[in-house]
Amino acid sequence: MRRCLELADAAPGRIAPNPRVGCVIVDARGRLLAEGLHRGPGTAHAEVDALRALGGEARGATLYVNLEPCAHHGRTPPCAPVVAASGVARVVIGVLDPVPGHGGGARLLRRAGVAVKTGVLAAEVRRHNRIFFTWAEQGRPYVVLKAAMTLDGKIATASGQSRWISGEPARALAHTWRAQLEAIAVGRGTVLADDPRLTVRLPPERDGAAGPARGTTDPVRVILDSHGTSPPGAKVFDTPGALVACRRDVAPRRVAALRARGAEPIFLPLQGGRAGGAGRVSVKALLRALAKRGLTSLLVEGGAELHAAFLAAGVVDELRLFVAPLVLGGQGTSAGPSWVGGIGVSALARAPRFVLSAPPQQVGDDVLLVLRPAAAIW
Ligand SMILES: NC(=O)c1ccc[n+]([C@@H]2O[C@H](COP(=O)([O-])OP(=O)(O)OC[C@H]3O[C@@H](n4cnc5c(N)ncnc54)[C@H](OP(=O)(O)O)[C@@H]3O)[C@@H](O)[C@H]2O)c1
Repeated sequence: MRRCLELADAAPGRIAPNPRVGCVIVDARGRLLAEGLHRGPGTAHAEVDALRALGGEARGATLYVNLEPCAHHGRTPPCAPVVAASGVARVVIGVLDPVPGHGGGARLLRRAGVAVKTGVLAAEVRRHNRIFFTWAEQGRPYVVLKAAMTLDGKIATASGQSRWISGEPARALAHTWRAQLEAIAVGRGTVLADDPRLTVRLPPERDGAAGPARGTTDPVRVILDSHGTSPPGAKVFDTPGALVACRRDVAPRRVAALRARGAEPIFLPLQGGRAGGAGRVSVKALLRALAKRGLTSLLVEGGAELHAAFLAAGVVDELRLFVAPLVLGGQGTSAGPSWVGGIGVSALARAPRFVLSAPPQQVGDDVLLVLRPAAAIW
């Protein structure tokens, strides 16, 4: 099963909304016969890929796969009947398919006389595909919040300067995350302060060849801008396709100006009556809208108010925080923003609590902390 997960990870680039799946076929004595993987929407599922690699007879063999073989007609025909017809004696499954209407493969195989075992390394298998499971089970993208801060937790100076708090290696790493995750979101405040492009800019390969062409790996850009007042000249609109999350009653001339730049407004309900959120679009409604578009993961890249809104909504699955060896200091108006704005919590017991997912890592001169909510199911 662990080999299935390794194979699954060999799929290049983004394959959303599909899960990462690998498959191993062994003979009755446990000797490897064939391996396969799923390479993305429209391509063979891992079981079919492995059976094709096997070419011939699978009679008496055992097939391992981390996700239940599907029993429905999607972009490709269902896998479970193909597996049953191959003659395998036994199928070992990590977890059942959580997508409504997609499961049933295990039952179909049992009915065909194949011995089926499910739930093997289930927790590890679910964690491995936690982006897919979050999307399929919770109807929202998996949310990664990234910020670069000083030793005293600031993301900008009092005058608004934020470039650059983290060093070059940290910024290069953050660009690889942009290339891996499906979408990227910032608040209107960050568009005004930093005028970011939100594209992927990876350093050239070591052999001197250029990095990936611009646009091929860019995530879907999302700007939270309730009234649609981001300047149409902002760099984030230089390439078409940016999504602007705005209120349903946004002024038509704002919508027209955004559309003229190739941006697409998403009209959303307001955040429920919470102090500090009044009049702003609902983060949860935005996430539902992104999930419906098949976007399974979202990188939140600032600023302070947006971070507060995502944390308050309880939808942050992972924090990736760079801490740079700088101190800005200051109090009140002489202080820059800390990485989380909003109204703050008054009781320690109500503070969202996180745990380290991995040991702190030094990246250049910065320290990377990767954390998940203490109550996370992964
Ligand atoms: N160091 C870093 O990692 C980093 C990264 C990014 C930004 N920054 C810095 O962060 C600062 C900007 O942060 P900021 O807090 O002023 O702005 P922000 O968080 O980027 O944007 C906040 C704005 O987003 C809009 N918004 C829409 N829906 C929202 C919701 N549900 N919750 C919260 N906001 C919502 C609101 O404007 P409307 O009410 O008009 O909708 C709000 O004023 C800048 O100084 C920038 O340089 C630093």
